Amino acid sequence: MHYTQPMLKENALQGKTFIVTGGGTGLGKSMTRYFLQLGANVVISSRKLDVLEGTAKELAEETGGKVLPVACDVRNYSEVEKMLATTVETFGSADGLVNNAAGNFISPTERLSPKAFDVIVDIVLRGSYNCTLALGKDWIAKKQPGTILNIVTTYAWTGSGYVVPSACAKAGVLALTRSLAVEWAKYGIRSNAIAPGPFPTEGAWQRLFPKEALPPAVAQKIDPISRIPLKRTGEHQELANLAAYLMSDFSAFVNGEVVTIDGGEWLAGAGEFSGLDVVPDEMWNQIEKAVRGKAG
Ligand code: HXC
Ligand code: NAP
Repeated sequence: MHYTQPMLKENALQGKTFIVTGGGTGLGKSMTRYFLQLGANVVISSRKLDVLEGTAKELAEETGGKVLPVACDVRNYSEVEKMLATTVETFGSADGLVNNAAGNFISPTERLSPKAFDVIVDIVLRGSYNCTLALGKDWIAKKQPGTILNIVTTYAWTGSGYVVPSACAKAGVLALTRSLAVEWAKYGIRSNAIAPGPFPTEGAWQRLFPKEALPPAVAQKIDPISRIPLKRTGEHQELANLAAYLMSDFSAFVNGEVVTIDGGEWLAGAGEFSGLDVVPDEMWNQIEKAVRGKAG
């Protein structure tokens, strides 16, 4: 058994239909692949239809599952309603939603224009609540249960410099997750979130870790592997395993939870003395002596 292997039982998602926003690339694509392998039908949506179509073809061939590409800008509520209508027309209903679409880039906040701030908040927060609202209204009207999974980040609760619009938006999505977990539980709608640490994807790496453009010392300082106690980045299958569990009926009593999957990164950043990791073992005798001496 290895963490890069699929975890759930065969057919664990048989008969379900999920919408995955931003499902054409990166983590959305990896989650979609696994949902299909487990028997779900998946609607993947984003702005770029050609990318979605390529992914749909690839994943349908690879898994034998049913995957429908639908162009939809999550910022636009009427496009979201159309995407939902197409889903219902094609598959009969939607059972779950993964709010995965996002926009992000690093920048000092004072360099941002108001539009730059808006574009991120609109994709991440407005996009998530647009999809949540459209599906929630439909589920409630049809007296049908539903499952929502929001992909946030660990800085949704700590905040982070240089990605302030994303931090504000993800914090909003976290509040949405917890609020609706309580309010909509009476309708059989569960809301959970995953807070991933660094998982290599082209979309995130080109906008957040542009190593070639940074001085080597800075590149080293923000290099995720050097910051993560487990000394590696995440594997897509690990995240897909967790997402499939949270979207499946196996997690029927899990509601309002945010599962961190980051190798211990954010806690290491928060811990006062985590930096002592760099002290070589042979120095500890000397340090202990000094500390005991002072204490005495
Ligand atoms: C400052 C910038 C900028 C930058 C864009 N803008 N890039 N400002 N620094 N690097 C400004 C523009 O000048 C413009 O404002 C406004 O933002 C909108 O830019 P557009 O290019 O017109 O927007 P659009 O074409 O809609 O593209 C949206 C985008 C783009 C967010 C800028 O990067 C995108 O499409 N991203 C989608 C995928 C993505 O971001 N994936 C990464 C998710 S990773 P003005 O005022 O000049 O018109 C993630 C992980 C987090 O979230 C955790 C990791 C550990
Ligand atoms: P990604 O491949 O760039 O995925 C982002 C997706 O969002 C793209 O498919 C993009 O497609 C879509 N999108 C952007 N704007 C949209 C809009 N207005 N409407 C609909 N779709 C839109 O990046 P990723 O790394 O896989 O990120 C996936 C999720 O994981 C995001 O929520 C991100 O914040 C989160 N996350 C990632 C990491 C990481 O290390 N990778 C860490 C923490 C959290 P189009 O361009 O075609 O629209």
